[in-house]
Amino acid sequence: MPIQKVGVVGCGLMGSGIAQVAAQSGFPTLVREVNDVLVEKGLKGIEKNLDRLVEKGTLPAADRDAVRERLRGTTSLEDFRDADLVMEAIIEQLPAKRELYTALDAICPKHTVFASNTSSLSITEMAMFTKRPDRFVGLHFFNPVPLMKLVEVIRTIATDPAVYEEVFAFAQKLGKTAVRTSDRTGFIVNRLLVPYLLDAIRALEEGVASVEDIDNSMKLGCGHPMGPLTLLDFVGIETTYYIANVMFDEFREKRFAAPPLLKRMVHAGWHGRKTGRGFYDYSDPKNPKPLKFI
Ligand code: 3HC
Repeated sequence: MPIQKVGVVGCGLMGSGIAQVAAQSGFPTLVREVNDVLVEKGLKGIEKNLDRLVEKGTLPAADRDAVRERLRGTTSLEDFRDADLVMEAIIEQLPAKRELYTALDAICPKHTVFASNTSSLSITEMAMFTKRPDRFVGLHFFNPVPLMKLVEVIRTIATDPAVYEEVFAFAQKLGKTAVRTSDRTGFIVNRLLVPYLLDAIRALEEGVASVEDIDNSMKLGCGHPMGPLTLLDFVGIETTYYIANVMFDEFREKRFAAPPLLKRMVHAGWHGRKTGRGFYDYSDPKNPKPLKFI
């Protein structure tokens, strides 16, 4: 039976984007946060995004209203009792994931498929928190979810091939290009992206060039939408540090090792755009100023 009713756990940056895209693609979507304030905040953010699309003329106002109708917020996991697919986008900590999946496994019917949006944790390890490892996959979206066209669909050695195909077809119905990958830390994108981002920091540390010149080189020389240091600030310095550590732990390869400057920035609380400072100063968010590190 194809996936019809969709649940999203977590309505932060990624979860709200996933919920928006699912509802925009015609799926009745229930999104859960831990309290009413966070539910409200997540839904308000989605409404703002939809309103922007209406203002730009890319979404008819009636469609926005229909999307809003399909989208519901909750604080209760019990409400996922009739979901066909639950996508999880909560904090990247295994104990929190374990608690969530144990609860969901008890609430959801046998046919419900679970999909984690983790960027670096083992899908197999999470699948084993449930009694349905055959109905467990990864669905890895990219920030900003409504704009980025890719989704990685991750199978484990325990995933039922029919379930995998069902989820793959669902990912395509979201209007995304779905790619097939297996449960190896970093999947496709982060396996290639993370060493590149870390190398940009190493180049800065070694005095190869300034923040601005490194970014301009990759933007203008290679046609990337953002330079690597801007992208690091966008993804989050502490998020990248976390992913790099998980990847280094998995592969023990130098290319995944966090450079000292990245670690120092995490310690200093320079977490990128969200804290107002990373490789750039965002005091004026429309006009970020590159900082000097050498
Ligand atoms: N949500 C929704 N819409 C947004 C947005 C957001 N967060 N940010 C920008 N937009 C819209 C703008 O409204 C604008 O729309 P318009 O052209 O119709 O007016 C359009 O996007 C372009 O915005 P800007 O002119 O302000 O900026 P850019 O042209 O630079 O585009 C971008 C913004 C799409 C974010 C582009 O810079 C980009 O693609 N950057 C790279 C992002 C990337 O690599 N993401 C993946 C990160 S890795 C990851 O997520 C994996 C994880 O595991 C780490």
